[in-house]
Amino acid sequence: MMSSNIQEVAFRRLVGEKNFSELEKWRKHSLATGAVAKIISEALAKKSLSFSPALCISGALLHDIGREVSVGTLHGWYGYLLLSKDKNLISCARYCITHWLKGRTEKEILEQSSLPENLVKKILRKGNFVNLSYEDIVVCVADAMAQDDVLVDIENRYEDARRRYGDTVWVDENYRKTLEFKSRLESILGCSLYSLFSKFGESLTFAL
Ligand SMILES: [Fe+2]
Repeated sequence: MMSSNIQEVAFRRLVGEKNFSELEKWRKHSLATGAVAKIISEALAKKSLSFSPALCISGALLHDIGREVSVGTLHGWYGYLLLSKDKNLISCARYCITHWLKGRTEKEILEQSSLPENLVKKILRKGNFVNLSYEDIVVCVADAMAQDDVLVDIENRYEDARRRYGDTVWVDENYRKTLEFKSRLESILGCSLYSLFSKFGESLTFAL
């Protein structure tokens, strides 16, 4: 699959034949995540980095695709399984895992969650999900800047996450890691990440 086509394939996989208004909330969130990833990717692509905007944007569009199977904690795993069976989208499968585990090691996952050890080992055997690429980091940050389909800052997004899921070690660590990813991107970009955006509080969507 040529990288220039992958965005279109990812978009079609997410949206199908539906109109925007007919899409479930999580698909609208995924489109907004794709739109945020696109803005960050375009800024990063101007820096001399080994980085694929097309892959990053496609990963952002499909990071939550496992919600087709289950909306629970394991949607990242189900998304990985769905995409790894699709020869055109196999390169997007890792983002389902990395937006969920955010580079945690096996030890960290077991300490911070109640996931069964055999499942954690099985997931981590599938690839290197501990050393994150810039594409992984951008997907994590973009996901954290889309509250449903509304552009928010990471601090607001996590306030909402704590209200929804409780103030858990997992959520706290997600917050810490996401701010760390934001700082890494800012040191490459040489500016505040938020300065790339002008529409906080407004809904965003993605168009090809
Ligand atoms: Fe997710």
